[in-house]
Amino acid sequence: MVLLGPPGAGKGTQAVMLAEKKNFLHLSTGDILRENVKRNTDIGKKVKVFMEKGELVPDDIVIEMMLDTIKNAKAKKDFILDGFPRTVYQAKKLDAELNKLKLAIDMVVYFKTGIETVILRLTGRRLCSKCGANYHIVNMPPKKQGVCDKCGSELYQRKDDSEETIKKRLEVYNSQTKELIDYYKAQGILEEVSGDLEAGAVYSELTKILNTR
Ligand code: AP5
Repeated sequence: MVLLGPPGAGKGTQAVMLAEKKNFLHLSTGDILRENVKRNTDIGKKVKVFMEKGELVPDDIVIEMMLDTIKNAKAKKDFILDGFPRTVYQAKKLDAELNKLKLAIDMVVYFKTGIETVILRLTGRRLCSKCGANYHIVNMPPKKQGVCDKCGSELYQRKDDSEETIKKRLEVYNSQTKELIDYYKAQGILEEVSGDLEAGAVYSELTKILNTR
């Protein structure tokens, strides 16, 4: 399954819920890239500057990284791609590779989400510095401010969640990623959920779609 939508639409939140409750493997391009930056790997050194500016990382880096990840995941279980593909070029490369592996995308879920929602969500997002758990200062606050409910570690704000970088990420989404909606619609595998709803309601929409497929 591919999750598609603007930054802050709730793709990561829903992918974590699906992984926990339905046993999917969650493959998040953003998480994998951020882990590379944190560990200062060769990939991390190359991508850091793009991510901090809210620009897309060059196609070739992300394609090679994700196709390797998919090959390693193939035998394990059904997987969710969160944040990949993000350009038509990436989508075509993914189709070709899946074809070689005799796999196919069952469905692409588009999170239709308003710009006001997205800005409020991203500016209020906080993450656990140790386990990566995701919070929102208003919508999904931790029990104790600044502290992770799950492991007790400190919460932090992503560098690219500043207002200026959010604006850039939205521009990039509109100019380079949005066209994937038509790309997958033409393949007959696009489904839509209302990303503006609260997380439980989005999850219900998602499970209804899963049950009809
Ligand atoms: P990435 O990490 O993929 O960021 P993104 O697409 O901008 O998505 P986000 O993680 O910001 O949002 P989300 O939709 O997952 O929302 P979330 O669930 O966290 O990518 C980061 C960077 O990496 C890119 O800018 C680029 O540089 C690079 N990159 C990644 N993939 C690439 C690719 N394929 N090609 C090239 N470059 C690539 O929710 C947001 C907040 O809202 C949270 O606080 C959450 O608690 C809250 N929330 C979520 N759902 C709800 C709800 N229903 N109601 C209320 N609050 C909610």
